Amino acid sequence: MTAIAAAPGNPGIAQVAEVRAVDPASAEAVVGAARDFRADLVVIGPEVPLVLGIADAVRAAGIACFGPSAAAARIEGSKAFAKDVMAAAGVRTAHSEIVDHPGELDAALDRFGPTWVVKDDGLAAGKGVVVTADRSAARDHGAELLEQGHPVLLESFLDGPEVSLFCLVDGETVVPLLPAQDHKRVGDGDTGPNTGGMGAYTPLPWLPPETVTEIVDEVVKPVAAEMVRRGVPFSGLLYAGLAIGQAGPAVVEFNCRFGDPETQAVLALLDSPLGTLLHATATGTLAEVEPPRWKDGAAVTVVLAAENYPGRPRTGDVISGTETPADGAANTEVLHAGTSLRADGALLSAGGRVLNVVATGGDLAEARANAYARIAGIKLPGSHFRTDIGLAAVEDRISVPTRV
Ligand code: GLY
Repeated sequence: MTAIAAAPGNPGIAQVAEVRAVDPASAEAVVGAARDFRADLVVIGPEVPLVLGIADAVRAAGIACFGPSAAAARIEGSKAFAKDVMAAAGVRTAHSEIVDHPGELDAALDRFGPTWVVKDDGLAAGKGVVVTADRSAARDHGAELLEQGHPVLLESFLDGPEVSLFCLVDGETVVPLLPAQDHKRVGDGDTGPNTGGMGAYTPLPWLPPETVTEIVDEVVKPVAAEMVRRGVPFSGLLYAGLAIGQAGPAVVEFNCRFGDPETQAVLALLDSPLGTLLHATATGTLAEVEPPRWKDGAAVTVVLAAENYPGRPRTGDVISGTETPADGAANTEVLHAGTSLRADGALLSAGGRVLNVVATGGDLAEARANAYARIAGIKLPGSHFRTDIGLAAVEDRISVPTRV
């Protein structure tokens, strides 16, 4: 028998899995729930429990677990650790400096620009990053982080189109999934503040096919090998966020988990059983399974966000129109993120990014048309979404610089 439980879950996943009210940051609670469910495999989704070592606790309880150890999750949890691993592995990335005292901030900002990249050296769900040509905005963000007691990472700006490449990694075995592109700014045309991601598409028609091999060979494999060398082998999903510049792929960031909203699009095209790939990674047998097969065509995710997101979002509003319409809304799904159910069964908004419309199509233009037709039928007061997810690719406005 195959059964899935999700913790803590939401009303969307409750349609396909048993939902359990478990605190994902509590090792005792997660291990207890996994034992109670007699789980063959535990998949830890977000970075916070991974950085807290929940995967270590599950493995110590003798249960297969997809997700890195706390020591390996530092590749996302500490930007300074990630930079150190990349330097040792000879991987291209932005030049960076850590600032941990307000008195050092101005002099450090003077060594960067004309575009400043100011990051929280820790977990910030994508919202701790400010990329700006305005020095005072860069300074304000750095000062605010320092005031909160967070060290600040300043980085040089990496030019070139961005790619998210998710790789299943089991020690030194690296299996890439389809490359995708996120849209991090809140507004059309890449305007407004950064968010956790407003939409994504895959595959990338503008990316030369050999670039994925270059990313695997020049970035992911050397990093995986360096982590093995340090005694902290990575097991799980290594997310490489890259800029494809003239010198080749350079790392913007690593994450230790599947990325959102790219995953929704990437997995919509997966034609192999996901469970087999995750179980093989978790049990150290990834090299022995067939590589993933992919459906033809393209997939797009469009995020519906609550009013005021990425600021403090308005929550508690009724959402309507998420049911599959009578015409079947071919090739689309609505996946929930920040939703909850009221006692009377009404679906409510409960977070900043409320839900995702995921659509496939014969090509990117068709996938976009399907996604936007479906999202038009969903109503949430004050909500907003980007109307240009994947549009620059459809209009052939993205290109990779010639490698020098
Ligand atoms: N796509 C951004 C993230 O998952 O962090």
